[in-house]
Amino acid sequence: MTTLLVKNIGLLQTPVGSFSHGGAAQGENLKLQDAAILIEDGVIKEITSGGEIPAGGENADTIIDAEGHLVTPGLVEGHTHMVFGGYRQHEIPMKLKGAGYLDILRAGGGILDTVRKTRAASFQELYDKTEGFLDEMMGLGVTTCEAKSGYGLDFDTEVKMLEVLKKLNEDHPMDVVSTFMGAHAIPEEYKDIEGGADAFIDLLCRDLLPYVKEHQLADFADVFTEDSVFNYAQSKKYLEKAKELGFGLKVHADEIEAIGGSELSGEMGAVSCEHLIAINEKGLASMASNGVTAMCLPATSFYLGADFAPARRMIELGIPVAVASDFNPGSCPSLNLQFVMNLACIKYRMLPEEVLTAVTINPACAIGKGSLVGTLEVGKQGDLVIWDAPDMDMLCYRFGSNLALQVIKKGMLV
Ligand code: NIG
Ligand code: FE
Repeated sequence: MTTLLVKNIGLLQTPVGSFSHGGAAQGENLKLQDAAILIEDGVIKEITSGGEIPAGGENADTIIDAEGHLVTPGLVEGHTHMVFGGYRQHEIPMKLKGAGYLDILRAGGGILDTVRKTRAASFQELYDKTEGFLDEMMGLGVTTCEAKSGYGLDFDTEVKMLEVLKKLNEDHPMDVVSTFMGAHAIPEEYKDIEGGADAFIDLLCRDLLPYVKEHQLADFADVFTEDSVFNYAQSKKYLEKAKELGFGLKVHADEIEAIGGSELSGEMGAVSCEHLIAINEKGLASMASNGVTAMCLPATSFYLGADFAPARRMIELGIPVAVASDFNPGSCPSLNLQFVMNLACIKYRMLPEEVLTAVTINPACAIGKGSLVGTLEVGKQGDLVIWDAPDMDMLCYRFGSNLALQVIKKGMLV
């Protein structure tokens, strides 16, 4: 048995419960002063407050003094595209001269540029690069993350990306949840032929979705429902097949144009719908009445110079809000979830308590990990962060610095 005690916690702040928190519950956090937490074999055994120490805590194998700092659950990153070849810094001058995100994609650049580089990269190159990203994320306080495929758009490369993630989930302390996103763009081979998008969706439904399921390479399936990418009907066909096979569903919707993706997420019973910059009332109503979590990505809005998703309105409607980085080489080349928290506060006008829920239990539930991580409660994984901050206000206020002092994953200092 291995034990770890964190004592002298000035403030322990955490959402409570293994469910998505919407409406008023989004802002409800438990706050314990002068707290301590005992972790046994990676699982939380006891939490105390008021200066009390858990029974047997003083004999723990490792004792960490939090020196009066804030402790929260380890952050949960709910949306990334972190496996990719190359980078796309050459798009910066193109954008500054006026090219839009979809203009670059339509001209065969954007996602398709990354697809060429990802197809050319070996398993080992992708593994090493992604491992570096996981290390960096963990240093910033993230202890569980989601990652999508979607830069292969052919059988072998999609499988290669998912195998990289599967191996990293085994090898790296980070818990990595994989999402199959074969429907991320129309590949070059199909782009200029009539009916190409339909034919590609058919291929994904016939070959890739069943293979990914059979080999347990992903728990979720995601589709980019967007003008010039996949329309409502194509997205629905893909999601229906994914649902039939037992995948949890996610939708990239209303990032640039609202073409029905968020309505579709509600109709299909998706666990989450992501981006939502351009969401309209119909989409909001569909998500609210079907319990779909809104995965909002404010650093993408920042980087694209776009509007910010109406997160406050979503909270008013009772939609559980998660915020994530969307880390990818095109629309968000940053994996810093602390910066995302600052943006959620300043640009979405979310309160610090609401922000904490949005980077812990809500994304945990949206990636199927709500019963294991996302809160500090007895029986859950011992994943936590000791912050160079006395409270959440400080975390939402200081931006651009890394305030994570110590990150603990399953009771181990990482
Ligand atoms: O979520 N919108 C689609 N996919 C990514 C961007 C991918 C890219 O540009 O490489 C996103 O923003
Ligand atoms: Fe994305």
